[in-house]
Amino acid sequence: MKTAEVKSFYACSGCGSVFARWHGRCPDCGAWDTLHEEKDSARPAPAKSTAKKRRVAAPAATPLADVQPDTAGFIATGIAEFDLTLGGGAMPGSTVLVGGEPGIGKSTLLLQVAGRLSQRGIPTLYVSGEESAAQIKHRADRLGIRSGLHLLTETDLAAILAAADQLKPHPRALILDSIQTTFDRQWQSPPGTVAQVRECAAAISDWARRHDAVAFVIGHVTKDGFIAGPKVLEHMVDTVLQFEGDRRQWIRLLRCLKNRYGPTHEVGLFEMTEAGLNEVTDPSGHFLTDHAPGGRAAGSAVAVAIEGRRPLLLEIQSLVGQGVGNSPQRVVSGPDPRRAAIIIAVLQNIAGLSLSGRDIYLNITGGFVTDEPAVDLGCAVAVASSALKRPADPRTVWIGELGLGGEIRGVPQIKRRLIEAEKIGFQRAIVPAANQRDIAYGGEMQIEPVGRIDQALAGI
Ligand code: TYD
Ligand code: MG
Repeated sequence: MKTAEVKSFYACSGCGSVFARWHGRCPDCGAWDTLHEEKDSARPAPAKSTAKKRRVAAPAATPLADVQPDTAGFIATGIAEFDLTLGGGAMPGSTVLVGGEPGIGKSTLLLQVAGRLSQRGIPTLYVSGEESAAQIKHRADRLGIRSGLHLLTETDLAAILAAADQLKPHPRALILDSIQTTFDRQWQSPPGTVAQVRECAAAISDWARRHDAVAFVIGHVTKDGFIAGPKVLEHMVDTVLQFEGDRRQWIRLLRCLKNRYGPTHEVGLFEMTEAGLNEVTDPSGHFLTDHAPGGRAAGSAVAVAIEGRRPLLLEIQSLVGQGVGNSPQRVVSGPDPRRAAIIIAVLQNIAGLSLSGRDIYLNITGGFVTDEPAVDLGCAVAVASSALKRPADPRTVWIGELGLGGEIRGVPQIKRRLIEAEKIGFQRAIVPAANQRDIAYGGEMQIEPVGRIDQALAGI
């Protein structure tokens, strides 16, 4: 008797594309080293019966005019930073993916979310394939969760959905921790593979849609962003949140990367404490280090970024060193590395700073990451200040985008940035000359418009 031949295929953990041959670089998304072998027998055999043979009960189509709008509205947790990041709450019937590096606090956040939802009378089921019930109970005690939340430790998809369906009252919120530990028995590939992640996410989303519930799905993301999972999932879910921050620091950012039902680019701020995550509703000054009244050391400058709905003051620090050998270090963490490369080139070629062959370190305190162009000028001033060994004025904020020709470009929402800086106690702002007309600024700060980088550096 002939045995069925088991064929292999290769799935990209970045984009989910499938290939017959292995490639070092995914031909579809261009990512390196993301193709992994999966067995063809993992694919369920196609149903033998054709549509002709099978009888399917015909569902009745509804006239659009008869469809009732969703009166229940958003499902909100009451944790303002979380709800606002979602644009007011989660839409019933939708799936929200919460991605982040291991250890950043995803389980903590979602357990708190689950606790608050059930406290508000929303039947909630927290499913974990990551930890034991005792561990979760221990964490819940630490977080002060005493609501009627239901807990299930399970990794089998069918069992999870069966448990959810059996629960009375029926859950309106389901938290799945995590998509990488969940598996569908119909598929032979192990949990965490592209095939499993995709199937499980599809089944969970389908469950949420059918029950008008919201599913929060946790997914681990590795440092370089490529994982067996979340990248593939981003297209399948309604909303994508990313939990980020520096694990050694307390500040955490919840960033909205995609939202079918609300604004994207919203950011929620939290602080990791001994008793879980606290909301940071007034982030002003959180990213500024404390300085002695004497002022800042050379290499530090304060910029004002707008993240989502609010302005944030960011302290940018740079160290320009001597450099050993002919390959100087360029280490950038916080600002966008591509923008940093442009800033360094402009400082060197246009402002005439001697940076070639020197090591340059550039970072944002608090582990904050941003690609907002308005922080360019702050980065440039930090680097120049360190290179020139001249401390920047500690009472000044620097706002502006840097162009390749050394011009300072205008930035959006200048007024909101200035109001925030003044609130924290800054007294002077260097702003793009292009913004001069938008500033009907009623505050007390001294405003100095600049058109070019050399002009700005003269004000350090
Ligand atoms: P965790 O939620 O397990 O992260 P993830 O699910 O993203 O892997 O939490 C990670 C860290 O948070 C852990 O190292 C301990 C810390 N933590 C606190 O500091 N305070 C707390 O109250 C809790 C529950 C965790
Ligand atoms: Mg976890």
